[in-house]
Amino acid sequence: EQAAGRPGERATPLVIGHRGASGYRPEHTLAGYELAARMGADFIEPDLVSTKDGVLVARHEPEIGGTTDVAAHPEFAGRRTTKDLDGVAVTGWFTEDFTLAELKTLRATERIPDVRQENTIHNGRHQVPTLQEVIDLKNRLSRELGREVGIYPETKHPTYFQRQGLALEPELVRVLNRNGLNRRNAKVFVQSFEVANLKALHRELRVPLVQLTSASGAPYDFVAAGDERTYADVVSAQGLKEVSTYADGVGPDKNQVVARDAAGNLAQPTRLVADAHAVGLKVHPYTFRAENTFLPKNLRSDAVAANYGDLFAELSAFW
Ligand code: G3P
Ligand code: CA
Repeated sequence: EQAAGRPGERATPLVIGHRGASGYRPEHTLAGYELAARMGADFIEPDLVSTKDGVLVARHEPEIGGTTDVAAHPEFAGRRTTKDLDGVAVTGWFTEDFTLAELKTLRATERIPDVRQENTIHNGRHQVPTLQEVIDLKNRLSRELGREVGIYPETKHPTYFQRQGLALEPELVRVLNRNGLNRRNAKVFVQSFEVANLKALHRELRVPLVQLTSASGAPYDFVAAGDERTYADVVSAQGLKEVSTYADGVGPDKNQVVARDAAGNLAQPTRLVADAHAVGLKVHPYTFRAENTFLPKNLRSDAVAANYGDLFAELSAFW
């Protein structure tokens, strides 16, 4: 396999098709995932939220006003509401208020049309996929491409969903088990920004887990429990040791692994990659976009999450 050999070893980084090929297609659509794999991505990355009937579907957020055409459906006008989403008041339509059958009547739209105007021609063409459909796609593409396409699911807002009786973890475990993917050597990583959620998954899953971290803030489950540690604590030398007790890697924001120079370019690696490798953790930073082609060649991360699968297939050649 191409990837990330032993921690710290110079190797071509895995390419994670972040939210699909989200630079080219509306994010979290089967078309986007397929394009990413055909461009050479090693993994496709569905973010997971729950429907009202407990089905895991691929959306970055439970609120779907900006990524689907729900606002154009008068039958759902009454479902527009304001909720507390991890301490933030969010107004819109939420996946947990829709059955899967209802959600399937919607079509995906480009999330940032001002930035990716060319993607808007794909608006209205694609449904919100279930995790099962993403796995079926991955299996079909693996056969067609003659190589195993990996899947890299992320549980989104697990505390939020658990409080509504829609815990994401048991359903994810069920789906992976049902598909024969709960194996150490399956080409699967599971990732989360929350810690308790990942620790719970560690008890049930044999696939490698990745602790996501952000350049600011704190895991929401820490906040909810009154634990004052932040993501900076999670990636401290001591924090990384703790992560290594339940996860195989960390997925930091790129600003945590590459410092900016005076001109604002991402120029110098920080010590996080070496610190993580020292305790046996892989490092899978996110998210690299077209403007990041000047990344330092000595970053030595084990993977990159990229919106442009083709760009990074090319970049990885001189990593
Ligand atoms: O691969 C890591 C990445 O998916 C985390 O960022 O916010 O795009 O889900 P986000
Ligand atoms: Ca994600």
